[in-house]
Amino acid sequence: MSASGSVLAELVEVWKEYSGNWALQGVTMTVTEGRVHALIGPNGAGKSTLFGVISGEHRVSRGSIEVLGSGAHRRPAQLVRAGLARGFQVARVFPTMTVHDNVLVAVAAARRESAVVWRPRYSRQVTGAAADLIDAVGLGRIRATPAGILAQGDRKRLEIAMALASQPRLLLLDEPTAGMSQEETDQTVALVGRLYPDHHTTVLISEHDMRVVFALADEVTVLHQGTVLCTGDPQTVRADSRVIAAYLGEEG
Ligand SMILES: Nc1ncnc2c1ncn2[C@@H]1O[C@H](COP(=O)(O)OP(=O)(O)O)[C@@H](O)[C@H]1O
Ligand SMILES: [Mg+2]
Repeated sequence: MSASGSVLAELVEVWKEYSGNWALQGVTMTVTEGRVHALIGPNGAGKSTLFGVISGEHRVSRGSIEVLGSGAHRRPAQLVRAGLARGFQVARVFPTMTVHDNVLVAVAAARRESAVVWRPRYSRQVTGAAADLIDAVGLGRIRATPAGILAQGDRKRLEIAMALASQPRLLLLDEPTAGMSQEETDQTVALVGRLYPDHHTTVLISEHDMRVVFALADEVTVLHQGTVLCTGDPQTVRADSRVIAAYLGEEG
């Protein structure tokens, strides 16, 4: 069922209101399996709101939305079971636990295994899967470091490892490179680019760094004041005069 090219998320004329402020104004968009889909647009364009709507955190005010076979009345937990995972603009990890333990707990939770008083260790499958994920995101060297003292980029990669623990079909990453150094950004680009080939995880990523977008994305959707200005492959979007006028022009 997970053939590349199938539709993982479909939004039709989605509107979202926050007490009088329309953050999304008729967004129509399709996320296709196997393609890195980037969501770009200036601050306040509605990117994080769109993520919240897709992940079931926000109810839409109007319009229809289907994510991994679940319709409008889906709950976040239901979507996680259907194969959705997300990272946050500010990475959410357990700060006092080590990198290793954060990933271990995420893997155990995804597999509904818990270490309890009479069995204080996780199974070999769980510890092995956690070790693989830590290696996959390149955090092997600092696996014993408490998550709370990680550099921003490492923390984001830890969060990605934790998100991958549930073997998601669709991963939402909200500005994963925000605040990263050039080197951290490059590492994250390499990691995100491998998520479908290595893990069969399709990525919808919001991103402010245009170099990252054009290096990574198969498809780009430009949001502007809650509406889709343009959607298409990176070349098409880069050449679109409305995008240049509204957004890319600002980048210099
Ligand atoms: N929880 C909220 N309550 C009220 N207004 C919000 C809330 N979250 C976002 N907004 C407003 O919705 C619009 C879109 O915000 P957001 O989705 O965060 O944009 P982006 O992620 O593209 O910067 C902005 O005008 C923002 O002020
Ligand atoms: Mg945002």
